[in-house]
Amino acid sequence: MNARPLPKAVERVLLDEETISRRVDELAAQISADYAAVGELVLVGVLKGSFIFLADLSRRLTVSHAVDFIALSSYGDRGETGGAVRLIMDTRAPLTGRNVLIVEDILDTGYTLDYLLRTFRARQPATLRTCVLLSKPQRRQVEVPVDYLGFEIPDVWVVGYGLDYADKYRTLPYIAALKRDR
Ligand code: PRP
Repeated sequence: MNARPLPKAVERVLLDEETISRRVDELAAQISADYAAVGELVLVGVLKGSFIFLADLSRRLTVSHAVDFIALSSYGDRGETGGAVRLIMDTRAPLTGRNVLIVEDILDTGYTLDYLLRTFRARQPATLRTCVLLSKPQRRQVEVPVDYLGFEIPDVWVVGYGLDYADKYRTLPYIAALKRDR
C-alpha cells in the first residue's frame, strides 16, 4: 500500500489505523456483550467529531441498535467552552425508556458530556451510558463517568478519525498530533 505523506501541520501519528481498529473491535465486543440481555440500544453520536467512530463502532455491534445524532455548540474553540454548551440539533426520536449510549470522539474539559448527561437524564431513559474514543485526563474541569473508553492521550491537539482543526483533517485515517506552530 502507498503510504501517503503526513500533512505539513501534523507533528506525529499518535494512534495508527490498525491500533484504532483493534480498539474499536474490543469496544464493540464489550458493548455487544453488555447489552445482549436487553437486546437493543440507541447510539447517540455527538456531531461532528463522532461520525467516523460511530460509523465504525455501530457496524461492529452484534446487538440490535438504532443510530441517532445530536449537535451542540460551544462558545470558543474546543476546550475553551467555559462550560457554556447549547443543543442546536436534538435527536430525531425520543429517548424515554430506551437504552441510550452516547458516543463521543473526545473528552476534554468534560463540559460537553456533563451537559449531555444532565439533559438526557431528565428524559428518563431506561439506561444511560457513555462511550468515548479519546480522553485527555489532564484537561478535565468537571468529572464525568465514562463507561467505555478507547484511549487516554496527552494534552496535545489531535486531528483525524473525525477530529478536526478548523474543520480540516477529519478524514485522516489515523489520529495525529498537530504541530504547535501550525
Ligand atoms: C469536541 C468533541 C466534544 C467536545 C469535548 O467537539 O467532539 O463534543 O469537543 O470537549 P469538552 O470535554 O471540553 O466539552 P468540538 O467542539 O470540537 O466540535 P466538533 O465535534 O463539531 O468538531
